[in-house]
Amino acid sequence: MENQSNQFEICAKDDVADGEVVRFDKDDLELAVYHVGGLFYVTDNVCTHGPGELSEGYLDGHIIECDFHQGKFDIRDGAVVAPPCLVAIKTYKVVPHDSAVVIEV
Ligand code: FES
Repeated sequence: MENQSNQFEICAKDDVADGEVVRFDKDDLELAVYHVGGLFYVTDNVCTHGPGELSEGYLDGHIIECDFHQGKFDIRDGAVVAPPCLVAIKTYKVVPHDSAVVIEV
């Protein structure tokens, strides 16, 4: 699904189990999609600190830990919550949809 308001369907909600994070690529975007208790969050997949992929990290509630140097981000707003990361991770607005994870860019 794509429309004039720059909404993009990334995956089906069923593709990401509760408590999991999965990588999806959409055009030139490399994204991490998170499922926490029925809500979905989307960030860039590549860590701002280096080559770590957040989809390979450890999700604990709303906190993703990069498996490269154990930096942490809050997936709700991208804020750094543990070093060595210094720069927030980009987050994407998830728009309501019955069965798919849809972002607005
Ligand atoms: S690459 Fe992610 S914490 Fe260093």
